[in-house]
Amino acid sequence: MSHATHTIPTLRETYRRMLMAAGSEAPAVRRMLALFALGAVAQGLAFACFFPLLRALLAEPADLTQAWIWLGVMVAATVADLILGWLGHGFEYGGAIADVTHDLRRRLGRQLRQMPMQALARWRTGDLGAVLGGSIDEAVAPMGTLSHVIIRMLVVPLVVIAVTLAIDARMALAMAVIVPMAVPIYRWQRRASGQERRDVAEAHGRTESDIVEYTQGLAVLRTLGQTGAKAQRLQESLAHLREVQAKALMAGLWPALLMAGLVEIGLLVVLALGGTWVTQGTLSLAAFAAMLVIVMRFSEPLALFSELTKVFDLMEVALQRMDQVLAVAPLPVTAPAQPPSDHDIAFDGVTFAYEGENAPALKDVSFHLPARSLTALVGPSGSGKTTVTRLIMRFADPRAGTVRIGGADIRSLSSDALAARLSVVFQDVYLFDDTILENIRMGRPDADDAAVVAAAQAANCHDFIRRLPDGYATRVGDIGGSLSGGERQRISIARAILKDAPIVILDEPTAALDTESERAVQKAIDALVRERTVLVIAHRLSTVVGADRILVFDDGRLVEMADHRSLLEAGGRYAALWTAQLRSKAWHAAPVPADV
Ligand SMILES: Nc1ncnc2c1ncn2[C@@H]1O[C@H](COP(=O)(O)OP(=O)(O)O)[C@@H](O)[C@H]1O
Ligand SMILES: [Mg+2]
Repeated sequence: MSHATHTIPTLRETYRRMLMAAGSEAPAVRRMLALFALGAVAQGLAFACFFPLLRALLAEPADLTQAWIWLGVMVAATVADLILGWLGHGFEYGGAIADVTHDLRRRLGRQLRQMPMQALARWRTGDLGAVLGGSIDEAVAPMGTLSHVIIRMLVVPLVVIAVTLAIDARMALAMAVIVPMAVPIYRWQRRASGQERRDVAEAHGRTESDIVEYTQGLAVLRTLGQTGAKAQRLQESLAHLREVQAKALMAGLWPALLMAGLVEIGLLVVLALGGTWVTQGTLSLAAFAAMLVIVMRFSEPLALFSELTKVFDLMEVALQRMDQVLAVAPLPVTAPAQPPSDHDIAFDGVTFAYEGENAPALKDVSFHLPARSLTALVGPSGSGKTTVTRLIMRFADPRAGTVRIGGADIRSLSSDALAARLSVVFQDVYLFDDTILENIRMGRPDADDAAVVAAAQAANCHDFIRRLPDGYATRVGDIGGSLSGGERQRISIARAILKDAPIVILDEPTAALDTESERAVQKAIDALVRERTVLVIAHRLSTVVGADRILVFDDGRLVEMADHRSLLEAGGRYAALWTAQLRSKAWHAAPVPADV
């Protein structure tokens, strides 16, 4: 979901997003902008002083007292401008920028933890990485300097024109001639090159994501000999980036030239009109000279305009991206009717459809799993098994029905309280680029080393970890893909054992493993599931025969529920699946392990 909305945000929206990004520092940002605006007014006044100053100097005879007074006012206004600007920039130098950046990282991090998993799944990992990393800096770092320059460009001409209006209306109009021309050109530029530049910013984001994903997975991809596909995607991103960059340069060229031309034209208009009026005797030479100086001064920044909007566009795209992430509301937590009394799991008439899908993935599913029992979910691929486990984790809320743990609706549990009760082991294991010890400790961050090692022993991974170059201190990144799937799986089980949550969910943990690793992992699983409420999705029916209860799913419906023996005797869906697997080749390759 990296596509930003394809409209150019107004200054007001950008202002709102800036305040949003600033969070608790929003008053400081407002103060900074107010100081810059006041500074710009002071600078405009200083420019406007040129006129009375030159009039006093060019009078016959020169009025030196007047000249000194106006020079004094001018210097005072300039000093005021400098002080106000300095105070305004205090926002950056005073550490507020660092605070805002830090605070934003924390807020975005918290948001990622609290966001409904369904919403989280809409983003690519790399995109989120880019939001947490680059976007924050792109959005926050230029805030001060950029708003200073932009406020100046807007306010100074207005003040100068207003003051001049009081002195000589014609002259003010001559100066103002640039403004009505600048506005449509500004709009044109923002629309023409703005869009292209935002495309560039987005292509940048996408490339960044691809790089993050490519490099993260590099070790694994290399061992699997699959660098090709991801590398190709990265190549495509890079090519796309070059393309939009070239387009943006072309699209920005004409408006930029026109804007620069406009400044020249403005000067020429002022020169021509003023010159005519001076020769006609209706405008004093002093006023004319002052006007030229002023117009030259305030048209200077306009030449920088094009460069400026480039940074501005980058900032806007970054702000927008963060806004999108922060705008997702967490799932509401209702007041608890009663705290969970035990760790049994109940589905009561649960119907659920994924966001944007019409057909429900689960249809009116009801079951009750007593605490400390082992339940297996079976059924063809796509029948809704994983969805059941996701709803227990509150991936999203069901359309109808209730999911209860220990009698309490899980909607009444905080996300932390819910997470604390669940351990989850998936087919794919993500290991962080940290030591093996820390990767296991993640299960319970306050566990001491001895507890981590004990969990590793229970998960049947102590021996292979000790054989690693640095034992438990080996960094995952250093050995990369040399850990086998079964070893990674056992590390993730050690995590879960250490976490010691009362409910354990296993989603096809051994599906990708060969028979030997499967045995080792199965031993680890046996240690994990003891005395817990366990839900296991198994690809091989051989692993489910010992379950207390087997739930058979078909096309989103719970079609059978009993133990292995009763289901076979009933001769329904399960019996059919069982016979089919008995006949399949995979079955002979993987004989029933004795301990299930
Ligand atoms: N993130 C998702 N978005 C939309 N549809 C999904 C998503 N995940 C699964 N589905 C759909 O929901 C149904 C059930 O899927 P799932 O629970 O993963 O089945 P199983 O685990 O039994 O293979 C399938 O039709 C699948 O296509
Ligand atoms: Mg599944």
